[in-house]
Amino acid sequence: MTWRQAKWEEPLIFEMGNEGRVGTLVPIDEEINKEINEVQLPEKIRRKGDLELPQLSELEVVRHFIRLSQMNFGVDNGMVPLGSCTMKYNPKIEEVAASFVENLHPLQDEETVQGVLEVIYRIQEWMADITGMDLCSLQIPAGAAGELAGVLMIKKYHETKNHINRDEMLVADTAHGTNPASAAMAGYRVIYIKSNSEGLVDIDILKETVNDRTAGFMLTNPNTLGLFEENILEIAKIIHSVDGVLYYDGANLNGILGVTKPGYMGFDIVHVNLHKTFAVPHGGGGPGAGAICAKGELVNYLPYPIVEKHNEKYTLSKVPKYSIGKIATYYGNIANVIRAYSYILGLGAEGLSYIGKMSTVATNYLIAKLKDVKGLSLIAPNRFRKHEVVFSAKPLAVSTGVTALDIAKALLDRGFYAPTIYFPGIVEEALMIEPTETEPKEVIDAFANAIKDIINKAYENPQEIQKTPQNTAVKRIDQVYANHPTTITPTYRVLKLRKLGKITALK
Ligand SMILES: Cc1ncc(COP(=O)(O)O)c(C=O)c1O
Repeated sequence: MTWRQAKWEEPLIFEMGNEGRVGTLVPIDEEINKEINEVQLPEKIRRKGDLELPQLSELEVVRHFIRLSQMNFGVDNGMVPLGSCTMKYNPKIEEVAASFVENLHPLQDEETVQGVLEVIYRIQEWMADITGMDLCSLQIPAGAAGELAGVLMIKKYHETKNHINRDEMLVADTAHGTNPASAAMAGYRVIYIKSNSEGLVDIDILKETVNDRTAGFMLTNPNTLGLFEENILEIAKIIHSVDGVLYYDGANLNGILGVTKPGYMGFDIVHVNLHKTFAVPHGGGGPGAGAICAKGELVNYLPYPIVEKHNEKYTLSKVPKYSIGKIATYYGNIANVIRAYSYILGLGAEGLSYIGKMSTVATNYLIAKLKDVKGLSLIAPNRFRKHEVVFSAKPLAVSTGVTALDIAKALLDRGFYAPTIYFPGIVEEALMIEPTETEPKEVIDAFANAIKDIINKAYENPQEIQKTPQNTAVKRIDQVYANHPTTITPTYRVLKLRKLGKITALK
């Protein structure tokens, strides 16, 4: 059975099997058994009853988990055009490299982990070079954590400088939600800067808003519409004129990688998402990894530890003078750092220099295919995009009732993952598409054809599209109902079965 045929109603593992069914077991040595039984756990943490595990044959277990794996969809199955998430292909060699650190312990003596420290040191150097910053720390476990680290650095910087009343953080209205959330968590009042009709920061509004309470401005370039902020040098000048700090949200770095650097644009602090730009898999909010980098005196506020090299020895000794402290435990998310390391080595400097160009070519090729499709519209249609594009499906929704959500669901039926929808908030019925630099032309062609087909069908028979998906493991879900913790989740079903006494206990 494939994931297309599987049904959500199919049994959980707890609903399968029967009393006494087991897989092939190696007989347990009597002596070992005795030893195990002699290890006495404290009474209060000992299990009180039988272990509630299903009893199944090996065949049933294998079929169950293979079936579950086929119900999943990822970059290894097909295109994931999830805008802003940069779901590019992760070369498998990275997994081999990441597995090398499996046996290390974070408390190991530095002398015994020189190889890992060298990798961290090299990535710190490479990230500083790639971003045009002076120093980086690999402490951050995600983009949002990088933003929080960045705004905490900005806060401490103003405090150290005795800049009083710096309580406002400026955020572009196209920003990812984590930007205002991070600023608010650090105690800032968030001030949104509106975009102009071309989808770029409105310079006049920025000039009117900036004042001696401005702590900084959080921006990503290219922005989340995929547009390059061409006035970035002027933006930097405006922010620096009031001693503000310009923060770069590096989630969109793949759009410019190998072409330019945030440091050239006047940014002071940058976070890099290793789990997007450098092909580290991510999803469902983690596990990510990143670098937080700074320029000039702001390096003194970076989180520690930072790896240093003295006489060919690597140490975790560097604690910047006004460091905001630690953001992650131990070395950070080391397996992901190793994945990024092997990705960068695999491409080399020349390969890396194609990332920005290839992601831009892929996006603009897709735009050329969809730009004139009836039912879609585009802010600033004549501007080139970088790594992503946001179409509005509002014209289609107004004339047929078929929304961006319906298009996303219909794409699932056609073997594609859905694009990001309803973000950024300034575009109504937003479809945010990022083909990434790793999708072949044929796949981008097929994706564009799928969108055209959905839109044609929407004009002919909107109900058909509104009923999608029909070919997936899970059909159209009630968005509100699905978000409720006690509705249809597997955990709830297990609890219910236990209550009904339908789970067979393993003695
Ligand atoms: C533009 C932008 N900024 C920040 C983030 C947050 O990054 P992370 O998911 O690593 O926390 C995202 C995530 O998708 C993003 O797209």
